Amino acid sequence: MNSQDYIALEEKYGAHNYHPLDVVVAEAKGAWVTDVEGKKYMDCLSAYSAVNQGHCHPKIYEAFVEQAKHVTLTSRAFRNNQLPLLYKKLNEMTGYENFLPMNSGAEAVETAIKTARKWGYMKKGIEENQAEIIVADGNFHGRTTTIVSFSTDPDARRDYGPFTPGFIVAEYGNAEDFRSKITPNTAAILVEPIQGEAGIYVPPAGFLKEIEKMCKENNVLFICDEIQSGLGRSGKLFAHYYEDVRPDIVIIGKALAGGFYPASGVLADHDILGVFKPGEHGSTFGGNPLAAAVAIKSLEVILEENLIERSFELGNYFMEKLREIKSPHIMQVRGRGLWIGFVLDRRARPYCELLMQEGLLCKETHDNIIRFAPPLVITKEEIDWALERIEKVVKQLDEVE
Ligand SMILES: Cc1ncc(COP(=O)(O)O)c(C=O)c1O
Repeated sequence: MNSQDYIALEEKYGAHNYHPLDVVVAEAKGAWVTDVEGKKYMDCLSAYSAVNQGHCHPKIYEAFVEQAKHVTLTSRAFRNNQLPLLYKKLNEMTGYENFLPMNSGAEAVETAIKTARKWGYMKKGIEENQAEIIVADGNFHGRTTTIVSFSTDPDARRDYGPFTPGFIVAEYGNAEDFRSKITPNTAAILVEPIQGEAGIYVPPAGFLKEIEKMCKENNVLFICDEIQSGLGRSGKLFAHYYEDVRPDIVIIGKALAGGFYPASGVLADHDILGVFKPGEHGSTFGGNPLAAAVAIKSLEVILEENLIERSFELGNYFMEKLREIKSPHIMQVRGRGLWIGFVLDRRARPYCELLMQEGLLCKETHDNIIRFAPPLVITKEEIDWALERIEKVVKQLDEVE
């Protein structure tokens, strides 16, 4: 079968809830993927930052296969010999006392919402069913019915009502707007430290610090969604480190399991996660030994291979070089670490398609922004290779206009 055969099958039998580039990947290694015909491409998306460690990392692969020989799933009805080790690893790396494991990012966000509401009723004394959570406009936290209830993206919401109440939207980056929306019923403020899907939108300096401050002053939980920004992507372990804040709850996912397996969860101290009693929340697969073993190794790889530092240094280099490309159509180059928003004055999709022809895979976010987010194992030479292609494509399109 060739690529066209696979695409035809997918179009016929699959739901059309994505608009993928027409590249059919059959193999992947490090920062590179290979299609069915054997053409190699550099991956500048990293599965939305789920493969920060690079595709098919050999050490994570080893841990995956090794664990699969022993036990993959017990459910939390029984204990297993991997999950406690993941708890310990996360505690050592992040300083949070507890972790509640889930699978997908959206489930972890749901878990954080449930945690905040329960905490609001049990600890803060909010009257039953009155808890409010303040979120940001332009947010992206996943696709469940409750999460899209507080999305401000019409495509994410259309025809999915009725929506879950209890969410108040404030302007991202505008701390005063958040402050003005706090009421005695506010249980939490939930933000991305940098908005990924919104186009790697970095808030003004001091925004997170102000959020932390108003949360403390008003007995409100500060929740940071680090599912995309976390685990090295931004050039720090967590993007909120740039502002030296300590959220009450940090949500992680994606790169937690190096792209091998869905693994996610919520980090917090015991006075917060302790609100759950047996039977009050859970997941059949959450915290399974295969996910735990893979997650431990994925975290080790981030540390052993200095991926956080690499992201910081190479990200600065990549951004600097992108800023040197002269074109009237490049409006802004922004980001942190190897997480870059390349903002155009027009639709980005044609650029992504031309870049694909040049052997570089990336994806538009919103209409006019290209996100460059290669695996953090990428080398400087590989970034130079990408820069040549990007410059060529920008020039090509400039000429068309
Ligand atoms: C910040 C953020 N939160 C949550 C999610 C949802 O994660 P998942 O797709 O694993 O449900 C994403 C996914 O892109 C994300 O970027």
